[in-house]
Amino acid sequence: MAQALVFILAGHETTSFTLNFLSYNLATHPDVQQRLQEEIDAALPNKAAPTYDAILQMEYLDMVVNETLRLFPVGGRIERVCKKIIEINGVTIPKGTVTMIPAYVLHQDSEYWPEPEEFRPERFSKENRESMDPYIFLPFGAGPRNCIGMRFALLSLKVAMIVLLQRFSFRTCKDTPIPLVLDTRGFLQPKKPVILKMVPRTHVDPEV
Ligand code: HEM
Repeated sequence: MAQALVFILAGHETTSFTLNFLSYNLATHPDVQQRLQEEIDAALPNKAAPTYDAILQMEYLDMVVNETLRLFPVGGRIERVCKKIIEINGVTIPKGTVTMIPAYVLHQDSEYWPEPEEFRPERFSKENRESMDPYIFLPFGAGPRNCIGMRFALLSLKVAMIVLLQRFSFRTCKDTPIPLVLDTRGFLQPKKPVILKMVPRTHVDPEV
């Protein structure tokens, strides 16, 4: 029972909230959405079903997902129990102390992310990722107790987003809460529901 609940809460809610944030970011950044749809259409012509290999090739999709997880890391913070007394930067942490690592705060640090409140997928381009400190971007935690479902989560949310973007575009409407106000109790989630319009894409085949 306990394991099943963890999988439902840790697995389903987190993926669903991330899709929610991702849709919001795309609706509020139509240029990014268009570029992403172009990448999807090029890799999967005629709304072909996504394959594992095609998804791995989609660099821009990965950048957009990562930038969404930076702005909205649904876990918010991670915790560890200190195993032995240690001093870090003059602060002594006694053995047994629960130590909180504030992923959300690290993701907003302007020393690492210029204009951190801006949604900029380019931060996660191949070149930029090479120089990135892995402990500053922690949407799935780190180390031997990091998220066990990370690969599954990334794959399933990419499949969902590809299938949606092949058929629809997200648009804001008068009920869309802009900017998003976040509720930090439990998982990071919007205080008000994210209401968006989904506009069917008219398919123009240039070869016809
Ligand atoms: C976008 C989706 C997800 C996000 C952002 C996310 C995030 C996280 C984070 C931050 C942790 C804590 C890691 C740490 O302490 O270092 C965690 C742990 C965990 N996650 Fe996820 N997760 C996601 C999806 C999933 C899925 C799909 C599953 C299972 C199917 C899952 C199962 C777990 C489990 C079982 C743990 C506890 C691991 C342990 O304590 O050893 N998560 N997740």
